[in-house]
Formats: sequence, C-alpha cells, structure tokens
Amino acid sequence: MTIIDGKQTAETIMREISREVSAMTAQGERPPHLVAVLVGDNPASVTYVGNKVKACLRCGFKSSVVNLPADIDEDTLLSKIEALNNDETVDGFIVQLPLPPQISERKVIEMIDYRKDIDGFSPVNVGRMALGLTGLYAATPSGILELFRRYNINTEGANCVVIGRSNIVGRPMAELMMQKALPGNATVTVCHSRSRDIKKYCRDADIIIAAIGQPGFVKADMVKDGAVVIDVGITRVDDSSQPKGYRLCGDVDFENVAPKCSFITPVPGGVGPMTIVSLMRNTLFAAKSYRQS
Ligand code: GUN
Repeated sequence: MTIIDGKQTAETIMREISREVSAMTAQGERPPHLVAVLVGDNPASVTYVGNKVKACLRCGFKSSVVNLPADIDEDTLLSKIEALNNDETVDGFIVQLPLPPQISERKVIEMIDYRKDIDGFSPVNVGRMALGLTGLYAATPSGILELFRRYNINTEGANCVVIGRSNIVGRPMAELMMQKALPGNATVTVCHSRSRDIKKYCRDADIIIAAIGQPGFVKADMVKDGAVVIDVGITRVDDSSQPKGYRLCGDVDFENVAPKCSFITPVPGGVGPMTIVSLMRNTLFAAKSYRQS
C-alpha cells in the first residue's frame, strides 16, 4: 500500500512552475498575477485564500487579495468582477465560495471572463473540458489526474466510482475520468445522495473518488482489495485536543480502509495541496494563453 504524498508532489510542481516563471520574466514578461476575491470573513475561506497567496509566492507569481464586506450587494460585487475582467494587469482571479446568501453564485460565475476563470467554473471552461479542448479545468479534478500521472496509476478500463456530483468536484471528475485519454479511459459511475446502494458500486470499483463531505463515509467493507482510494473530503470536526479547536476529516475511514488499498490519499496532505497547485497551473496557463498586453 502506498500513501500518496500530495504535499510533496505539490512542492515539486511548484518548483517546476517557478522555473517556468523565471524563464518568462527573463524574457521581459510580467510574472503571472492572480487575484483572490474574499467576501466576508468565513474562517475556512480566509485560510484557503491565505494558502493560495502563499502558493503564489512560492511560484514567483504576483498575488493580490480583494477583501469585500459580507453585506456587499450583488450589483456592487458584479461590477468589481467586471473591473477585474477588464484589468490587463490581472491574468486571472478566483471568487472564494461560498458567498453570502444575498448573492447568486451562478450570476457571479457567469460574469467571470472565461480567460480569467482560474477555478474553471465558467460555462465556457466546463464546456471546453467536456469536449476535451484546452482551457482552464476545475482544480481539484485536475490535481487528482496529476497524482495519477505522477504515481503511474493506470486508469485504462478501470471501474471508477465517483461519490458526489458537485459542479466543483464530482461532475468534472467524472468527465475527466471518462475522457478519451490517459489518465481517463475509465468506466465511470457517479453515486450521490439519492443513489440506492452505494456500497454495491464501490465494492466493484478499481478506483473510488470520494467527494461528499461526510467524514468517514467510505468504510473498509465498501472497498475491494487493491483499490485506489482518493479522498477529497476536508470537513472541519470540533476537537478540543487540537490547537485550532478542530481537525480535518476526510470522507474515508482511513485507518481501516488504507490496509486494503494499492494507493490511498491522506487527509490532510493528499488532494488539498494538489488543488492549490492546479490553480497555480491554471494561472500560468491563463498568463501564457490569453494575455492581451
Ligand atoms: N470554496 C471551496 N472550494 C472552492 C474552490 O475550489 N474555489 C473557490 N473559488 N471557492 C471554493
């Protein structure tokens, strides 16, 4: 059994990106510039944005954070997004989710210029990914594919069960696993909250990708010997013994599942760092592909 080291892999990729950025700037180009928009002060969102800023520094990117009040109205936020779309010094930006209830996430996502949509959430980028065209792909699924590449995990013809159908992870993950390429070429089943017998599908799976946000959902009796298990869950569970008062829990009962696996990702230190690195890759892609000036 191999525990996939997402943190180490992410470090390696950030060094590779940083070398590419050095080559860019040596030719007189500006370094890639990523902006994070943070509405309100949701503690998890503040942490995620902080981690993205740190990653930008490691990659040699310029980064900025736009902090906006939690009670901002939708039109004001949409006009800020339009300004970022038109700002030629900005290669890409992310609007950290979730947004306060007075704001439509759908409208916000639709407003983002697809060339600057570093999260890969806009309809154009979702469509390009589904068609197998180049573009900005959703970060978590891209990061998982990169782990398959770097650990030489063969997905050809594999039975792959994706648990969860969110626009951010489950759907794009399923799309990429069934793409006519490697990694991909898998036979994909998507299970979700209305699925009748998730255990039945999982037991037959060569690869399980769990993205439902229910700590410990995938149990040992759901996993066949030799399976690859990828855990996307990062639920904060109260734990007074921890310095921060909580610990991060994955969707997989790691202790009991790991001994059965050929490969498994831990939480933390598995998929999370790869998501951030995919955002960095997307920012570099946007800077190289779509820069106007
Ligand atoms: N909130 C939780 N995950 C994400 C993500 O991938 N992108 C953005 N923008 N917000 C998130």
